[in-house]
Amino acid sequence: MFTGITHTHVAASVIFFLLYLIKTILLLANQYEALQSFSRRTRIVEGIFGGLMLLTGIYLYFTSAFAGQMWLTIKIAGVLLFVFLGVTSFRKRNKLLAVFNLFLFFYLFVISRTKTLTGKETWIEERLGQLHQLPADPAARGKILYTQLCAPCHGADGMATRSGAKKLTESEVSFFQIPEIIRQGPKTMPAFGPYLSEEDIQAVTQYVLTFRQTPTNDAP
Ligand code: HEC
Repeated sequence: MFTGITHTHVAASVIFFLLYLIKTILLLANQYEALQSFSRRTRIVEGIFGGLMLLTGIYLYFTSAFAGQMWLTIKIAGVLLFVFLGVTSFRKRNKLLAVFNLFLFFYLFVISRTKTLTGKETWIEERLGQLHQLPADPAARGKILYTQLCAPCHGADGMATRSGAKKLTESEVSFFQIPEIIRQGPKTMPAFGPYLSEEDIQAVTQYVLTFRQTPTNDAP
């Protein structure tokens, strides 16, 4: 469900953006008549995909592991600004504003991918950067990595299902599959392979398994 809605949201956003891009090109080329007729003919399509983007966006927000984070709040404010500036720039035939809006959309796209405000690194790199010295002991290491990287979706107790995640307390995948799941990231789970060493992956795997023995595990 979450994966399907995420794909729908991205597809609707891309179509919405393409319509905006075509209109911007017509505006920049002084093709005002073509711009008007294109706008008129695509109004319904634009309304449908805009509405779809909004509805799926609302659903994703309320099920997301990232709700309330700064980058996401800025993104939502940015989308509203984008729509407002888009309407204004075509109505006033303001080329500068239309081009500025293209950059604004690009920025919103980048922060959606990285889930950080600067867009320079991903949220995973940002969180790993906050961990200065990891303990050598695998159990302690696994717990810290889990808390930083996995708990946003799976919850500190493995019971949460944010961003489409599954309860790890009820998980039935085999011990041997877990490292591969962490490396590749099924569905909307990110692939952690590029960020974690083999040792880290083993440590997190061990920690994940502790949820199964004590389903209400919340040890300090
Ligand atoms: C952005 C959210 C998110 C984050 C962060 C995340 N996961 Fe997941 N996880 C998911 C989703 C989505 C699935 C797939 C659920 C499904 O198959 O329906 C999943 C599936 C899994 C599964 C397989 C469960 C099963 O029974 O099929 C394991 C194990 C798992 N994650 C472990 C982890 C670990 C360990 C981390 C941290 C290194 C992590 N996840 C980080 C969202 C996340």
